[in-house]
Amino acid sequence: MVGENERACLIGCHGVRELHQNRRIPTGERTNLRLNLNIGITGASGALYGRHLVRALAEIPGESHLIISPAALRVLRQELEVPVDTPEQYLELALRELHDTRHAFQLVDHRDIGARPASGSAPSHGMVIVPCSMKTLAGIAHGYTSNLIERAADVCLKERRRLIVVPREAPYSLIHLRNMTALTEAGGIVLPASPGFYQRPQSLDDLGRFIAGRILALFGVDHQLFPAWQGDDPETTVQK
Ligand SMILES: Cc1cc2nc3c(=O)[nH]c(=O)nc-3n(C[C@H](O)[C@H](O)[C@H](O)COP(=O)(O)O)c2cc1C
Repeated sequence: MVGENERACLIGCHGVRELHQNRRIPTGERTNLRLNLNIGITGASGALYGRHLVRALAEIPGESHLIISPAALRVLRQELEVPVDTPEQYLELALRELHDTRHAFQLVDHRDIGARPASGSAPSHGMVIVPCSMKTLAGIAHGYTSNLIERAADVCLKERRRLIVVPREAPYSLIHLRNMTALTEAGGIVLPASPGFYQRPQSLDDLGRFIAGRILALFGVDHQLFPAWQGDDPETTVQK
């Protein structure tokens, strides 16, 4: 049975906006609202961003299909120095030490183009690809659905559901920039892996939480992953 607020959210980007106006999804409190996402994790640098999104989602009621590319596992091993060889081990690592998980995570093989996220008839609130490699970005921007991550993103665009990609490369070539433009023109959201430093992060995890929080905010989720900007601090503001 789909509740009133959830129905508003299920109808795509405009529905998500309606959800923002009616009732946001607060973390840390019991709620009937659910967030059902597809999540792609690919082989761009920034493995901790995906890990923090999964940890933050664990507090939110709902269900997500998690699709992890082989390159994502390769980069994760490099960056986090952990022996993670399988998607199952990835999920175990991401959820480690969390006791109260309200979110169901379904692991789906990136080659399984017959899995649920491959069809527009399977409802979801949208998709996040975090981090998103230039290879996956190119595949989506050109409608070249070579695996389940790219197919699920393609489905989001055609169904006018929210698609957020968190790309990472430096510097960008003209091809990368054109692909980001094409994705934006098709209705996707490019949320660069560029955490703000005005929050004065104390650790890499603070950077991960910042990006996870910005993603959740785009789905109408109230979170406490980092403090909201309150305006200038009177003590540091220059008096005119
Ligand atoms: C250590 C390491 C770091 C990488 N960093 C990036 C990166 O920041 N951005 C990017 O687009 N590709 C990066 N790559 C290359 C991608 O992993 C590669 O293009 C891969 O084919 C992407 O496949 P996928 O999109 O299916 O995960 C990196 C690869 C390795 C091994």
